[in-house]
Amino acid sequence: MNETPMDPNYVRIFDTTLRDGEQSPGATMTTPEKLEIARMLSRLGVDIIEAGFPAASDDDFEAVRSIAESVGREPVVGRPQKEPPTICGLARAVERDIERSAKAVAPAKHPRIHTFIATSDLHIEHKLRTTRADVLKRADAMVRFARGLCADIEFSPEDAGRSEHEFLIEVVHAAIEAGATTINIPDTVGYLTPAEYGELIALLRQRVPGSERAIFSVHCHNDLGMATANTLAGLAAGARQAEVTINGLGERAGNAAVEEVVMALATRRQRFGLTTGVDTTQLVRASKLVSQTTAFVVQPNKAVVGANAFAHESGIHQDGMLKNGLAYEIMRPESVGAGKTQLVLGKHSGRHAVGSRLAELGHELEGEALDRVFARFKTLADKKKQLTDADLEAICADSHMSVSGAEYKLVDLMVSCGTQGLATATVRVERPDGVIAVAAVIGSGPVDATFKAIDSILDAPVTLLEYTVHAVTEGIDALGEVSVRVREGESVVYGNGADTDIVVASAKAYLKALNKVVAGRPIRSHRQERLAEEVRGGAVS
Ligand code: KIV
Ligand code: ZN
Repeated sequence: MNETPMDPNYVRIFDTTLRDGEQSPGATMTTPEKLEIARMLSRLGVDIIEAGFPAASDDDFEAVRSIAESVGREPVVGRPQKEPPTICGLARAVERDIERSAKAVAPAKHPRIHTFIATSDLHIEHKLRTTRADVLKRADAMVRFARGLCADIEFSPEDAGRSEHEFLIEVVHAAIEAGATTINIPDTVGYLTPAEYGELIALLRQRVPGSERAIFSVHCHNDLGMATANTLAGLAAGARQAEVTINGLGERAGNAAVEEVVMALATRRQRFGLTTGVDTTQLVRASKLVSQTTAFVVQPNKAVVGANAFAHESGIHQDGMLKNGLAYEIMRPESVGAGKTQLVLGKHSGRHAVGSRLAELGHELEGEALDRVFARFKTLADKKKQLTDADLEAICADSHMSVSGAEYKLVDLMVSCGTQGLATATVRVERPDGVIAVAAVIGSGPVDATFKAIDSILDAPVTLLEYTVHAVTEGIDALGEVSVRVREGESVVYGNGADTDIVVASAKAYLKALNKVVAGRPIRSHRQERLAEEVRGGAVS
């Protein structure tokens, strides 16, 4: 048996992703895939890998055998070689299964046979079609038989959660007397509540003669979503092995998730006073590997390893996180290998988070400049689900490029265009003196009409040298960025603008360029006054 630390508070992590996990409908894995996952589990630092059910098929046998031959033996560069994990094979309480299991795990440095038989009356009568006396006899005989083939034997009374207590005590006692070194108590159908499961573990440890000679193990299914809570309750009641799977993979609703159990023990160390040998920084990698291999997608809000487990979008939370990371995080993302905390920028984000992300991107904005960018951010966030760094850069460039001081600003733009006729653009621009000027102009297309309308307000005849448009981000809600280059006399100026509407982006870009052209000039009462009505303070004057 693998020499696990003698610390009485050490919890052995028994990973059954490759056995109970693989029993998930649709999660079948090939031998190379199982080998890769077993290597990952070894890197993760689990104590025991239940590698499969060797009697189930030749493929299962081969997979367990290959894992037993190689896993944990590969040299680890830059780190002291660790003891390889124990490799375990499952077997029903019948000689053939036990022999197959013994043979499959034999090459492992630390082999284990895990044998089981059901102990609930429901299973005994309807599944096994036998009697309690027969089950007791078989448990005793098969543990003895297994012990003759391997020194490390685990015994499970299947459906222990629904078994009658006095009978369960009798069977567990017999298994220990026959040589079982680990007694696993499965809540096979995820029926018990945490209090009941904890009480069951405490009862068995107290009432089974010789219980101190075995390690008690917890094995909880998640049918009512209580697998992790039950596992922790069992550990709190004295069990020192937890049977878990990566991502909670397993029969029906799955098993207790390794990442949840391990991180609960680590995060609430004061409460439980228990340790494990798991390198928690490998948890996200292990989760990704299992999810990719089985094509079982991890839900974004999955505890510890979900994509959103360390993401914050609400403005209040983001503000709190920026002030102190512990405000809304009880674990650091780095501690599970999840990279850095993500402040997802969206419509719930606040000014603080936007400013802070901009600063990370190299734009130190404060006061009014930040207000301006934040206002644009909010408008765009109402249209887009999430804003990327590229969006922020574009908004920033857009607001930042404003010519300092007085300028013409786009207030409104309406275009009508299509195949049926000429395009018309109606533009409302706020002049530097606060007057709102409106122009409606016909053009050959929506951009041409818009530019002509702006020309009519600013009266700054320029030649358009270059007009380019490109999408800043992907998708139909992408921001479009327009750049224009215009010439007036000898000087060539440039302007850009970004918006989800490219005609609006074009208007902004053109206006920006023209602002540079007219900068410092007096506002002339020019020809646009014949074309446009003037509105002051929103009221028609
Ligand atoms: O859930 C269960 O009862 C099992 C046993 C085989 C241990 O997986
Ligand atoms: Zn199970």
